[in-house]
Amino acid sequence: MADSLNNLLSKYPQNDEGSLIPVLQQTQGLYGYISKEAIEKISSYLRVSRSTIFGVTSFYSQFRFNPPGRNSIKICLGTACHVQGGDFLLNALQLEIGIEPGQTTEDKRFDLTRVACLGCCALAPVMMVNNDIHSRMSVIKIREVLKKYE
Ligand code: FES
Repeated sequence: MADSLNNLLSKYPQNDEGSLIPVLQQTQGLYGYISKEAIEKISSYLRVSRSTIFGVTSFYSQFRFNPPGRNSIKICLGTACHVQGGDFLLNALQLEIGIEPGQTTEDKRFDLTRVACLGCCALAPVMMVNNDIHSRMSVIKIREVLKKYE
């Protein structure tokens, strides 16, 4: 891990807070998430405090701190999906798999992310698993959909 992250960092100037977001995006692209070790390294290379990094990463929901699961679930809470019950869907899903957005189940079967719009609002509420869009979702369909993903 250290070599590839060092490689990535070497493309950016040291002590440059302005590089923080692209560095975080590329780190996540490299490993699928941003580990504690990566945060330490980025913090010291760019000379940005860890609290600034956590502030930035919690503002942008694209960043995650846990290794992804085998299947990635995205629940849309954009306006169209919200109006059609996206929040109920998210709550029911959280109960079903026992994690919150940004987390991965212990068995690594699923990770969960909340997103602002998946670009298919006419099909709201929408849930995406890996690259599959599940349209007009409802709480009672959740188990049936999850069964397809081991
Ligand atoms: S708001 Fe959910 S797909 Fe656009």
